Amino acid sequence: MDRILVTGGTGYIGSHTVVELQQAGYPVVIIDDLSNSNREVIDGIERITGIRPDFVEGDCTDMQTLSKLFADYPDIKGIINFAASKAVGESMHKPILYYRNNLNTLLNLLDLMGPNGVKGIVFSSSCTVYGEPDENPVTEKAPIKKATSPYGNTKQISEEIITDVINAGAPFKSVILRYFNPVGAHPSAEIGELPNGVPQNLIPYLTQTAIGIRQELSVFGNDYDTPDGSCIRDYINVVDLAKAHVIAVKRMLENKSDAKIEIFNLGTGNGVSVLELINVFEEATGVKVPHKIVGRRAGDIEKVWANPTYANEVLGWKATSTLADTMRSAWAWQLKLRERGVM
Ligand code: UD1
Repeated sequence: MDRILVTGGTGYIGSHTVVELQQAGYPVVIIDDLSNSNREVIDGIERITGIRPDFVEGDCTDMQTLSKLFADYPDIKGIINFAASKAVGESMHKPILYYRNNLNTLLNLLDLMGPNGVKGIVFSSSCTVYGEPDENPVTEKAPIKKATSPYGNTKQISEEIITDVINAGAPFKSVILRYFNPVGAHPSAEIGELPNGVPQNLIPYLTQTAIGIRQELSVFGNDYDTPDGSCIRDYINVVDLAKAHVIAVKRMLENKSDAKIEIFNLGTGNGVSVLELINVFEEATGVKVPHKIVGRRAGDIEKVWANPTYANEVLGWKATSTLADTMRSAWAWQLKLRERGVM
């Protein structure tokens, strides 16, 4: 079978996708600079699938590293590009890092795809491109709003770069996937999210609070125009999300669509508030999450959730995990991290 290059394949969504690719029979090579992950993730992938993916430690912004990788693996036919910096807050302080990492990686890959006979690239985008949407649920036709962070801007620019390169006649296809809020961990608890330092995202902060690493979860605002006043998101299980990548890459490699570029929202279609999510977690796990209401977080969107109909119909993909199961998986992963002495 054609080999898939997974950039950022030891990261959170990348590692779950490598598992699904291998379970679908694809040989994989990962490139990752381990800037926000570690080698043990590869052991976790091997324990789940029985297959150790090939791994190259390297930085995708370095053209020589990537050229050598394509020379070493002439059977690469598809790319899934996860290699990117992803913290919204950090991007406000380190914009050059974000533009350099996220855009140079993409440009290098696009540059090397044609000469190396790669048929397609799946790109990790985000619902952040919709900003504060005029209507929910959000379809792919909703207008793109001006980005509020360099991180968000790299996603918008990346989508434009891919579109321009393909419209200019590049000999490959692309599927752009706009994720809503990916959460949870593999049900085996062998892999999951490994936040660096104090988590900025809700679920890792919540599970660290539940286990006692953090004292209290701050709920950022209860005065939004939502039923309980807290923000609404579409929390999508990371394994469900990973499966969509396998379908997307297969679709390109097997030429199942005439379109050279396709864009899909990946969400559940359900909007869930922060307070509701805390309740679901507590009920699913039986563990209490001490929390307090604090002021709004600058830059937060009030409410956004997906209309995933297009992905459901065209990709034949649907999020199937319940939120309760997803919360149990996040908790099992947090317990595993403690067992391993990681945190
Ligand atoms: C953000 C980005 C998104 C990115 C994602 C992962 C924007 C608009 N969104 O999503 O593109 O893919 O991070 O990095 O840039 N919350 C609390 N307390 C906390 C943490 C979060 O109440 O301690 C609330 C937030 O206010 C929000 C929800 O939980 O309503 C989810 O927050 P978070 O997990 O940080 O993700 P987003 O901000 O939605």
